Amino acid sequence: MARASVRYSCQSCGTVHTKWAGQCGDCGAWNSLSEEAAQTAGPPSKSLGTRKGRRVELSSLSAKEAPPTRIISGINEFDRVLGDGLVPGSAILVGGDPGIGKSTLLLQAAAAIARTGAKTIYVSGEEARAQIRLRADRLGVTDTDVLLAAETSLRDILTTLDAEKPALVIIDSIQTMWSDTIESAPGSVSQVRACALELTNFAKRRGVAVILVGHVTKEGQIAGPRVVEHMVDTVLYCEGERGHQFRILRAVKNRFGPADEIGVFEMTGTGMSEVSNPSALFLGDRDERAPGSVVFAGIEGTRPVLVEIQALVAQSALGTSRRAVVGWDSGRLAMVLAVLEARCGLQLGAFDVYLNVAGGLRISEPAADLAVATALISSYTNNPVPARTVVFGEISLSGAIRPVAQSGARLREAQKLGFDTVFAPPRGDAKDGTDEDAVQIENFDELRILVERFDIEGAA
Ligand code: TYD
Ligand code: MG
Repeated sequence: MARASVRYSCQSCGTVHTKWAGQCGDCGAWNSLSEEAAQTAGPPSKSLGTRKGRRVELSSLSAKEAPPTRIISGINEFDRVLGDGLVPGSAILVGGDPGIGKSTLLLQAAAAIARTGAKTIYVSGEEARAQIRLRADRLGVTDTDVLLAAETSLRDILTTLDAEKPALVIIDSIQTMWSDTIESAPGSVSQVRACALELTNFAKRRGVAVILVGHVTKEGQIAGPRVVEHMVDTVLYCEGERGHQFRILRAVKNRFGPADEIGVFEMTGTGMSEVSNPSALFLGDRDERAPGSVVFAGIEGTRPVLVEIQALVAQSALGTSRRAVVGWDSGRLAMVLAVLEARCGLQLGAFDVYLNVAGGLRISEPAADLAVATALISSYTNNPVPARTVVFGEISLSGAIRPVAQSGARLREAQKLGFDTVFAPPRGDAKDGTDEDAVQIENFDELRILVERFDIEGAA
């Protein structure tokens, strides 16, 4: 006989355990198990038995079905991240730190979509309607007919949505919603999972686009993270540094568009405003003659973006040298430093190394290796990089510099912004119509040669 079912679910990874423990055996998180009554509406525990199900409709892959018309907000950066607008019937998760600007951006998007005549409902579980109106006033969108609700009961919300038949629903946030079929508190993994499941099912059933807002926990994950992420069609993250006004909306998963696409915004006194030329913004007021400053020609999603990488290599005052990184992977930095030591003879052991990607952008491309190495060498030798130079290329452990994809797009963006020198690996991809005469390309196939170039200049 089944015993009274109490289960413990990990608040970090969602794994369900039958016994309490101090550490989750699955993801290794400490103190993350919390008691939850077994779901009443969970999956059946018995086997299927002999009762027959209904026949499922099958249709051929070749059957013609018109693609759904997407809902376009007119906020270009927002639409592009989604892959040219919202797909009706899709569920989108927008995650990010509290206070980063999710509610602001989504209220603006809701207003823009309502202006196109599509019925838009904004449900807030965090703010009262008067507060949302105050915000709308600040954003200058009070003239739109976005329908507001301040509610947290999922049952009531779904009843309302069923009756109202909107085109777009925004749920701010999924952690405040609660379903009465689950006994645990709002924000717990099983509540978040159940609510997200109900809402994504509603989206599919009614052909409504549903946007769920999710706060990131201290550990940097949306509470009940994995479970929600793979339930929805699209996952967007709103990123940015507190001290910077730039905000980046990044698609980490998208069933209806390219992943890794970014939209760039600037947080202003009147909401998030689009930045259509991010390169110009990230390069802002850069000091070209400062040693350690390099412009990296990167690709973010489908777009080339130029961004400044700064390095500081300074004699360490302490016995152990420090390495600090903002905006890049610290493991990758350690690798570049090791290659500089082992293959190029730079003695970096006694130096502190600081690396910073300007503007609050996070870079994950290996193509940034060469730019990082150049910044380090430039700071180490105290020689500035030649003016109007961009850098890209991947570094292998042997010290060889490897070609990267889309060098044509990188070169064009550099040219457009007035750069005329490029440090790059020998071209790997086929020529793609770049006007190469306008830029001077210095090809490096080994990191050692780049180091020598700086040393020679240093001697001069
Ligand atoms: P918010 O959208 O409430 O963040 P989230 O929903 O992600 O928690 O953003 C709040 C921050 O944004 C707050 O610090 C104030 C700032 N802000 C502006 O700078 N300009 C504005 O027009 C608005 C509405 C907010
Ligand atoms: Mg909010």
